[in-house]
Amino acid sequence: MSTYTEDNRKVTTHRFLEMKQRGEKITMLTAYDYSMASIIDQAGMDAILVGDSASNVMVGNITTLPMTIDQMIYHGRSVVNGVKRALVVVDMPFGSCSGDPLKSLEAAIRIMKETGADALKIEGGEEIKEDVKKIIDAGIPVIGHLGLMPQSINKYGTYNVRAKDEKEAEKLIKDCHLLQEIGCFGIVLEKIPAKLAEKISKELTIPIIGIGAGGGVDGQVLVMHDMLGINKDFSPKFLRRYADLHTAITNAVRGYIEDVKSQDFPNQNESY
Ligand code: KIV
Repeated sequence: MSTYTEDNRKVTTHRFLEMKQRGEKITMLTAYDYSMASIIDQAGMDAILVGDSASNVMVGNITTLPMTIDQMIYHGRSVVNGVKRALVVVDMPFGSCSGDPLKSLEAAIRIMKETGADALKIEGGEEIKEDVKKIIDAGIPVIGHLGLMPQSINKYGTYNVRAKDEKEAEKLIKDCHLLQEIGCFGIVLEKIPAKLAEKISKELTIPIIGIGAGGGVDGQVLVMHDMLGINKDFSPKFLRRYADLHTAITNAVRGYIEDVKSQDFPNQNESY
């Protein structure tokens, strides 16, 4: 049976909830530009995340912290231009949502207005609940992000699995319930034990989208460059590669170099 969808209706946050209710897994992949977003959308992806992982895979930074609101808007607008069906979610970058609800709302409104995205993703729980509430109350759909939160990497000092001890697991569960209560339409859980993620997914009515959180959740998200094998040096346990574009691109580029050097390209048919 093909699992590719023929349903061309625009994916909405409401449809996210319906998918969880009928047990249909939700698919999400990152994109940062028009061309890739349009391929991913036409392939049938349910949601496209304009992640601040753009900092790593597009800009070459070590962390996601340097991303600015202007840069997220640039990538967000580019993706929205290429998408007809998928729900487009844009990350609020580091520092744009951190304890000043009015400033956070201002940043959120700017991102929504200038990108045309459908929703925002925000890292954090209890500590930023007033900010998230203010944004949701203004009519902006928010998906939370808990577990490993890359914007807090300097606090953790490591990208290891989170919530392995009871105290952190308990806080995580509490934060998930809190985000649901204040109106988030879903939560991304990154790099936490599969059993814990499954328990949370069963307790909550909103969809849980996992990355490194096992198969017992309501959907999966991956970074496009990782799953397409563009980043050949990044191989965490949770990653499945669906292509080896690093090799494919290298071979294509070498072929072009060879053809130009040997004067095989352009030939007569390729000239005016
Ligand atoms: O920025 C991003 O790509 C993300 C995913 C890893 C979920 O937040």
